[in-house]
Amino acid sequence: SQKPILLQGHERSITQIKYNREGDLLFSVAKDTVANVWYSVNGERLGTYNGHTGAVWCVDCDDTKNVLTGSADNSCRLWDKQLALLNTNSAVRTCGFDFSGNIIMFSTDKQMGYQCFLNFFDLRDPQQMDNNPYLSVPCSECKITSAVWGPLGEFVIAGHENGEINQFSAKQSGEILKKAKEHTRQINDIQSSVDLTMVITASKDNTSKLFDSNSLDHIKTFRTDRPVNSAAISPIMDHVVMGGGQEAMDVTTTSTRIGKFEAFFHAAYEEEFGRVKGHFGPINCVAFHPDGKYSSGGEDGYVRIHYFDPHYFDFELEA
Ligand SMILES: *[C@@H]1O[C@H](CO)[C@@H](O)[C@H](O)[C@H]1NC(C)=O
Repeated sequence: SQKPILLQGHERSITQIKYNREGDLLFSVAKDTVANVWYSVNGERLGTYNGHTGAVWCVDCDDTKNVLTGSADNSCRLWDKQLALLNTNSAVRTCGFDFSGNIIMFSTDKQMGYQCFLNFFDLRDPQQMDNNPYLSVPCSECKITSAVWGPLGEFVIAGHENGEINQFSAKQSGEILKKAKEHTRQINDIQSSVDLTMVITASKDNTSKLFDSNSLDHIKTFRTDRPVNSAAISPIMDHVVMGGGQEAMDVTTTSTRIGKFEAFFHAAYEEEFGRVKGHFGPINCVAFHPDGKYSSGGEDGYVRIHYFDPHYFDFELEA
């Protein structure tokens, strides 16, 4: 099988990776201050976004090559077609374009006396780009640690520090439409299926769970023996991938169970069927290419674009 492509463009641990809808581009952000964009086919770097002065926690892109990043420097930046700098009172933890690309959301950390907010901006209104969100929802109870748009731009599904997930309406008052409390510890990541009808969570409680996006009904649970930092749903197979592990400084023993993992699960059977090797240290983020290949970003500062053995794609038939 082909060797993975190793992307070396960051000096600190990777915090998020994301493919554009076509899959030709892969964006990466890290605890250093830059965002990178790569050609996914060969791992060549197309460009670097310079401007942030702190760790970059999140990245998203839309169909027209607009890119959104959020940083610990208390700002969210919109790059390319229209440049905008949205200043905040605390770190920007999560960000995303809705499916139309017209609305963006980002959440800010509960930090330095400020509470967590979920902010919404309509990019078609220049006044809002002057730092006037049309909706700013305070989340006084519990900080948002991960968030994605639901289908049709109606709501955002947010994961919280206490393990809850909430649907926040993107309309009117931003009320909570649905809640789910299936995790016992912090949600580290939420990603949606290609058709946006399902989301998968990754939690510090050592599990990932599938939920119906609209009802927030819990569908499946995937268990490991380590904290899960990121999880994604295959666009072409009934599979999910999970990545995680603990940093050495977080652990008090030298048990062999501690450390990184990158594992594939059958979604239907909730069973692990494969492990991936490569990174040194924990896996911080995983993402699927639209064709079913996948990539991971590590605490080691590298992004790896993986290849599968050709028989991987026949697996469903053989099983
Ligand atoms: C998760 O895994 C870690 C490391 O193996 C373990 O110490 C911890 O107790 C587990 N947590 C839960 C909630 O199972």
